[in-house]
Amino acid sequence: MLKKIGLIGGGYIGGVLTQEIAQRRLAREVGLVDPAPMPNPNDPPERQEVIKKQSVSIGKCLDIAEGLPTIRKDVKVVGSKDYSAIEGADLIINTAGVPRKARPDGTFPSREELLTINLKVTIEVAKGIQKYCPNAMVISIANPLDAIVYTLDKRLTPKKNMLFGMAGVLDSNRYCYFVAEAARVSVENVNAVVLGGHGDDMVPVRSSCQIAGIPVTKFLDADTLAKIEARTRKAGGEVVGLLGFGSAFVSPAWSALEMAEAVIFDKRKILPVCAKLEGEYGVNGLFVGVPAIVGKNGIEKVIELDLTEEEKAALVKSVAGVKKTCDEVDTMLKSL
Ligand code: APR
Repeated sequence: MLKKIGLIGGGYIGGVLTQEIAQRRLAREVGLVDPAPMPNPNDPPERQEVIKKQSVSIGKCLDIAEGLPTIRKDVKVVGSKDYSAIEGADLIINTAGVPRKARPDGTFPSREELLTINLKVTIEVAKGIQKYCPNAMVISIANPLDAIVYTLDKRLTPKKNMLFGMAGVLDSNRYCYFVAEAARVSVENVNAVVLGGHGDDMVPVRSSCQIAGIPVTKFLDADTLAKIEARTRKAGGEVVGLLGFGSAFVSPAWSALEMAEAVIFDKRKILPVCAKLEGEYGVNGLFVGVPAIVGKNGIEKVIELDLTEEEKAALVKSVAGVKKTCDEVDTMLKSL
């Protein structure tokens, strides 16, 4: 159990994280920061006064705290509109920023299109971490995932293994779920890895997908697997299109907690995570989804898979997409 987990962003994912951390008793204290709702300077003064007194994070924390006697868990759950909430945290999970949301015509933006707005939010996030818990381990979930982790790396000074992103666990779980459903077997039997950036060019690795240790190709034909892999690449968008109000929030929270538990209990669990690469997979200086051993020091070791030629080419394409977004980050950071 940790002393304190700091959560940045108290929206849909932040809410699930708070309740699950309490339920699983992963820390003695949870600090949740979210400035929402923010007063609109164009509103009449009376309205602004009302908004100033409201707080998503304080409200959610009070709601959860009042349920603690029911679940019989002693956890201090504290919300705040400012970053003092995360003071002294050992581990930060960051979800601050806007999610993808379906437009009235049913279309929705790509994760990359969130960059302009979420980059500004991320700069605030980095300032908060640097001020209140500079030595904390950081798991980031906000999108565009790889570019936001890259931005945090530019603005923070933890060691490289202390900062990583959550995407691969979720993408791999989606792949596993679709395989389990098609093969009509337990989700517990399926193992799979999705590599690369957290975008539509992500790489579900068929050669590493197994059902109870047996290659998936024994159970499903190539056509079915190709359809599952295409669905996996766009699985986040499928949920956005269905929900209408935002993006997936339970499965991302559970995925981040799988990573957090690997750290907290020093599991040395192999998980696909967005890690800084320094030569692995031929990539330098970018954060990209790869399998890694995750333990008390964060990323203990990146694992290099033996990929087929086709998978290698798909990874090169996915990494090129990550690089393009990170180049945009570099340009934008110069003017911020
Ligand atoms: N500091 C802290 N929190 C902030 C800040 C900030 N500077 N700016 C915005 N937020 C808060 C918002 O007020 C909002 O409550 O971040 C929260 C995000 O919550 P949601 O809008 O509900 O989004 P959620 O579904 O939780 O997704 C969060 O994770 O998966 C990604 O694409 C998703 O980038 C999005 C993030």
